[in-house]
Amino acid sequence: MVPELSRQAEQLSAKLADLADGATLDVFPYVAAAVLETLLARSVAIVEEKFCKPWLWACGWLYRRTALYRDEARTLAELNAFSQEVIAQRACRRQEAAAGDSRDKQVVLDYLLAATESGGRLSETELQDEVNTLLSAGYETTATTICFALLLLGMYPRVQDNLVAELDAVFGDDPQRTPTAADLRRLHYLDAVIKETLRLFPPAPIIHREVETSELKIGGCTLPVGASVLVLSYSAHRHPDHFDSPQHFCPERFAEPRARPRHPYAYVPFGAGPRICVGRAYGLLLAKAAVAAVLRRLRVESRLSWQDLRG
Ligand code: HEM
Repeated sequence: MVPELSRQAEQLSAKLADLADGATLDVFPYVAAAVLETLLARSVAIVEEKFCKPWLWACGWLYRRTALYRDEARTLAELNAFSQEVIAQRACRRQEAAAGDSRDKQVVLDYLLAATESGGRLSETELQDEVNTLLSAGYETTATTICFALLLLGMYPRVQDNLVAELDAVFGDDPQRTPTAADLRRLHYLDAVIKETLRLFPPAPIIHREVETSELKIGGCTLPVGASVLVLSYSAHRHPDHFDSPQHFCPERFAEPRARPRHPYAYVPFGAGPRICVGRAYGLLLAKAAVAAVLRRLRVESRLSWQDLRG
């Protein structure tokens, strides 16, 4: 996937560079990105609003009379139309590939389509649900990570200087070169910057679990079967028992061998266990490729300081 990721990252960086000098732009990529972004941002906002108003989900008939419900139905219809289009395009490519001898790289959607075609291990609705889940789970989280990384780099010029020095060392021979998978692997400090960003600002700051088979004793409480448990990764990531100076942006803590062992569940930006994020490698790579591409062209600054960021 790295060539594709790098291409996207370069597009992002070129877009920002263009915006920075006010040149005329081809609007299409911005429109396409903005449509998807607005759609998914609205879906997330609806889920958040419902989450905070339990009487709405406890009382279905009441909810169906609200403007929020109508908004949800409209947003879902648009999201479904978008994912149907994605599925239809890929199905068409698969048919063309089967007819000719084109050797397209298999992507995750191919496996899902194959599971739908071969006698229905997945129904059409399930296929669409999977695509919607991948889109909404992958899009906002990765975009948020990239934005927070750029914000923190703008707030901490020393870290940005270190990172630029690493990028120069890796790409110094040819600043225009498209990054390869090997290049991204060599960017250890960038890796640490992204991991430290995910520690301070995990895009999914709460993980949900349910007590499934037997009651659970934890912290002096007994949780009955069926209880919902919200795990606050945000708080764990800022706990002084697990991280020195937890309120400081310090990528070095991930770059250097750790002074003391960390609890295996103290750092869980992608969750843990059987439900751990399936897109974590992709998300990390995309974030690395995007931040590298931006910093190879631009210097970022922020007028915000740490005190302006409230948890
Ligand atoms: C930096 C980027 C990302 C972060 C921080 C992130 C974080 C998370 C977290 C915290 C969970 C819940 C894990 C748990 O309950 O233990 C999760 C689940 C999931 N993520 Fe990600 N994610 C990212 C990128 C992606 C991408 C790029 C995709 C897909 C392309 C993706 C797809 C999913 C899916 C499908 C699940 C549900 C897995 C399941 O319940 O079995 N994520 N992610």
